[in-house]
Amino acid sequence: MDLNGILNKFKEEIEKIKEKELREAKKFFEEVKVRYLGRKEGIIPNLFKKIKEVPPEKRKEFGQKINLLKQEVEKTLKEYQNLLKEIEKEEKLKKEYTDITVKFKEFEAGSLHPITKTLNRIVEIFTNMGFAVADGPEIELDFYNFEALNIPKGHPAREMQDTFYITKEILPRTHTSPIQVRTMLSQKPPIQIIAPGKVYRRDSDPTHTPMFHQVEGLLIDEKVTFTDLMGILDLFLKEFFGENTKVRFRPSYFPFTEPSAEVDIGCVICNGKGCRVCKGTGWLEVLGCGMVHENVLKNANIDVNKYQGFAFGMGVERLAMLKYGIDDIRLLFENDIRFLKQFKPILA
Ligand code: PHE
Repeated sequence: MDLNGILNKFKEEIEKIKEKELREAKKFFEEVKVRYLGRKEGIIPNLFKKIKEVPPEKRKEFGQKINLLKQEVEKTLKEYQNLLKEIEKEEKLKKEYTDITVKFKEFEAGSLHPITKTLNRIVEIFTNMGFAVADGPEIELDFYNFEALNIPKGHPAREMQDTFYITKEILPRTHTSPIQVRTMLSQKPPIQIIAPGKVYRRDSDPTHTPMFHQVEGLLIDEKVTFTDLMGILDLFLKEFFGENTKVRFRPSYFPFTEPSAEVDIGCVICNGKGCRVCKGTGWLEVLGCGMVHENVLKNANIDVNKYQGFAFGMGVERLAMLKYGIDDIRLLFENDIRFLKQFKPILA
């Protein structure tokens, strides 16, 4: 009996697995396994049955040899079984594979509106200086918008702000200054707030829209001086427009501040030389301010012997236009995507 011949034939046969497709290979593997090890007709079990035919003195050696053959076959089968499992796994992975490097349609990141960006920056600078953010209603009572701010009925200052009256007493606020009064009535000094918000005036041309944004500032404490106001606004404007910005205070008039001032910066377009934007003056007006008028403090129940304060107000659209070099305020409200796209994406 040529046991080596059987082993070689077996190895030769099973080697063919490698040439077959997985499904066929699995079937073939089972066939070879049965052919060699199958209980009933398997070649190796049959060999064991033939032991009887071997002379007794050789039976032991013969038996050992068949056992070795059987072990060798089992070992090889195990190896090929593992090989099949490997191939199966690989094929499965190949099927499940997703090419994550595939190029997909690029998405466009949106950008914050220039007004939002400007507002955020203003709020950031003032909150860094210790100001809290306050709020008030857009639809106001005459009392907060005018009366309490030292602008009594019939006062010529009411002409300064053309108002959209809803009724005689109710109106969309014409400035954020009513928040000064509301804050002083609801909070005890020291007070240090800014109040961003929408305001409404009957105005429409390249530099005015019926709705625009303002940021109000109010600081009330003991021993507050005009110099404190100047220092804070100077710092703010240098933070916002750049450290080389020239800042100038000009005497002015507001009914709710005394003394009052308007603040100019050196023209950001021509650098002070004089151009169309600054109308040849080299200066651009950017905000109004002053020491809170005694009458306003009294209207808000603040002890004027103990406290003083300053207030300021600025137009957000105006600051945005100067910062980004926008020459028509209406561009900020038309939402033309070609215009808006020029502002950096949110993610940048
Ligand atoms: N409320 C003023 C305006 O709308 C601005 C301002 C605010 C001036 C606070 C002085 C103090 O023009």
